[in-house]
Amino acid sequence: MTEPPVPGSLLRVVGIAGSLRRASYNRALLCAAQQLAPPSLRIEIEELDDVPLFNADLDGTAPPEGVTRLRQAVQAADGLLLVTPEYNHGVSGVMKNAIDWLSQPPRQSVLDGKPTALMGASTGLAGTARGQTQLRQAFVLTNTPSMLRPEVLVGRAQEKFDGTGRLTDEGTRQFVASFLEQFAVWVRQQQRAREIS
Ligand code: FNR
Repeated sequence: MTEPPVPGSLLRVVGIAGSLRRASYNRALLCAAQQLAPPSLRIEIEELDDVPLFNADLDGTAPPEGVTRLRQAVQAADGLLLVTPEYNHGVSGVMKNAIDWLSQPPRQSVLDGKPTALMGASTGLAGTARGQTQLRQAFVLTNTPSMLRPEVLVGRAQEKFDGTGRLTDEGTRQFVASFLEQFAVWVRQQQRAREIS
């Protein structure tokens, strides 16, 4: 799939890494994606440090500042790129917590209809396959269309990044670049489908 040129049209995508760790492989993968994205796709990274644990009592007229910032960023974006760690065969609590905040209010949330792609890096062999599957289950309830393939499953991450967090594995770099090109095409398809529905 190659992206048809659309002069003057830029897709803005919010990128979120589901790890608070300073040397996170998943944030490093997101930063690599930011650099490898095609010219028609701009990835803006949102951090989760100031997003508290979900508490419906806090979600009234004045939700926590970090939550409001995150919701507004996702609302304004053409798409969402989630880069998740896998903990104990599931999605990281940090990522799930962000999804829980973003999923409110039900049926009118910023996740409703938002074209979304997943990536993940782990030190294990399966490269977050199970964690990503859990996220897709949540998307059924949030009505979030997610690109099914290709899957970016970066296993043995400790061998693919250098000490500064740069993605050094050439095959992975090429794959991520191709993935993002396909994501750009798919986001435009999703937008067109919404326009005619
Ligand atoms: C892990 N890790 C891990 N890896 C994996 O492939 N499958 C798993 O189920 C788990 N489970 C798990 C649980 C806990 C509590 C920790 C701390 C770690 C390893 C994980 O992939 C590794 O720590 C990554 O570096 C985490 O992602 P970030 O923080 O580097 O982005």
